[in-house]
Amino acid sequence: MNAEGHFDTRAFRSALGSFATGVTVITARGANDELAGLTVNSFASVSLDPPLVLWSLSLYSPALAVFQHCSHYAINVLAADQADLSEHFARPTKDRTGEKFHTLKFDTGMGGAPLLPGCCARFECRNETRHAGGDHLIFVGLVEKFMREERAPLLFQGGQYRRLATP
Ligand SMILES: Cc1cc2nc3c(=O)[nH]c(=O)nc-3n(C[C@H](O)[C@H](O)[C@H](O)COP(=O)(O)O)c2cc1C
Repeated sequence: MNAEGHFDTRAFRSALGSFATGVTVITARGANDELAGLTVNSFASVSLDPPLVLWSLSLYSPALAVFQHCSHYAINVLAADQADLSEHFARPTKDRTGEKFHTLKFDTGMGGAPLLPGCCARFECRNETRHAGGDHLIFVGLVEKFMREERAPLLFQGGQYRRLATP
């Protein structure tokens, strides 16, 4: 808040961007078989026992209903060479949920969620609880299955994709 009582949203967003994160694509399958997926960097670990993670989804996302009601979702942690995939899933849904998957190959995981190949880790989560979080909905997932591959992660900081300096 500045002296005039004005909250500078753009500066806030830019300050948040100082916090370096990994990049994930979170996917799910809805009750009518429709697929949903988007790029997410609000992912964080919560608890080891029980194994819980969290992420937040914009209330304006066309995928909101699918994620609210699906039994499971998959959190695909992107590898350093997957910036194109991140951009693909960061494009707003134009027409209908599922359109982002038409050109992609994927396996199917718990609850029918698409599993993207080439990731450095993946967490398949039961859709445990959801919490109000301003203009986002905070999802807490119970991890039922996970995998990890020896690949460098994709990073995001200051509005740009980055890679680790060390191999
Ligand atoms: C690096 C990165 C991280 C993002 N993180 C989130 C996030 O945590 N939650 C969210 O709702 N949108 C996030 N977005 C924006 C969505 O990916 C984007 O709005 C996308 O168009 C949503 O797809 P939809 O239109 O199918 O909902 C992120 C975008 C990028 C590039």
